[in-house]
Amino acid sequence: MKKLFAVLGYPIGHSMSPIMLNDVLASYEMDAHYHPFKVSPDELGTAVRGLKAIGIKGFNVTIPHKSAIIPFLDGVDELAMSIGAVNTVVNDNGKLIGYNTDGYGFIKGLDPYITSFSDKKILVIGAGGAARAIYFTMAKLKPLAIDITNRTVSKAEELIEACPFESNSKSLSLEEAAANLNEYDVVIQTTMIGMYPKISEVPISLSNLNAQALVCDIIYNPLETQFLKEAQQKGATVQNGVEMFVYQGALAFEKWTGIFPDVNRMRENVLQQLGGAKC
Ligand code: ATR
Repeated sequence: MKKLFAVLGYPIGHSMSPIMLNDVLASYEMDAHYHPFKVSPDELGTAVRGLKAIGIKGFNVTIPHKSAIIPFLDGVDELAMSIGAVNTVVNDNGKLIGYNTDGYGFIKGLDPYITSFSDKKILVIGAGGAARAIYFTMAKLKPLAIDITNRTVSKAEELIEACPFESNSKSLSLEEAAANLNEYDVVIQTTMIGMYPKISEVPISLSNLNAQALVCDIIYNPLETQFLKEAQQKGATVQNGVEMFVYQGALAFEKWTGIFPDVNRMRENVLQQLGGAKC
């Protein structure tokens, strides 16, 4: 019998996951289908019960349901619970268990550049949901330092206080971070600044960027944000948000099937969906 996988969101039409993951399922000749479901916030509980009743194998959860879904699950893994957000649900013998693969997805994408975090000084820009997943997951890996800068500094401070993993962290204003930017080996841009259509905006000045730094932006539309353009002009290595998107999907697929899929194939698929351009 065909196995069902899904993604729940509201809206959901923009999601690149169905085309990416159906292509991966087909490449392994699996008799399975991954379907997008538009589920309004007040129907989320009913939808989850329905999916459980029909024996769904697993599903993704996207905006705006990543936190709201937690009470409807049978269990949530420790990291996802501390982040307070679930993006992947596995049906484990009739029990729906929630995970968060966003943070690990981001970190997996850094594999070609970083083998150990113990000597790395990291700056996270932003203190929203995406920053929380990345910061908590990275803090667990004990980097030399991991600081957070945000327009509202108190939110960066709150994130540091809420993190269950001990880390060498401080909060900074955007101005302080820009002034001290040369200290950082890795800079991670997690806000929506620079996303289409406001593509000329940048969150902080890069004048003091260390030319040896790795600069990441979790935005993938456009593939090259103004922030990454400026970082590249400074000589830094840059990475856009396609890697995080691909790897969070690959880790979800692995949780459902036991197979870590071909990420090169997934990346090509996503780049095609985004218009064929390459960063
Ligand atoms: P997500 O869950 O996608 O990460 P979010 O929770 O809305 O999104 O968080 C958005 C992040 O972008 C926050 O860090 C926000 O800063 P504040 O905490 O000060 O609101 C940041 N952000 C959004 N618009 C911004 C702007 N115009 N200038 C600076 N920071 C901005």
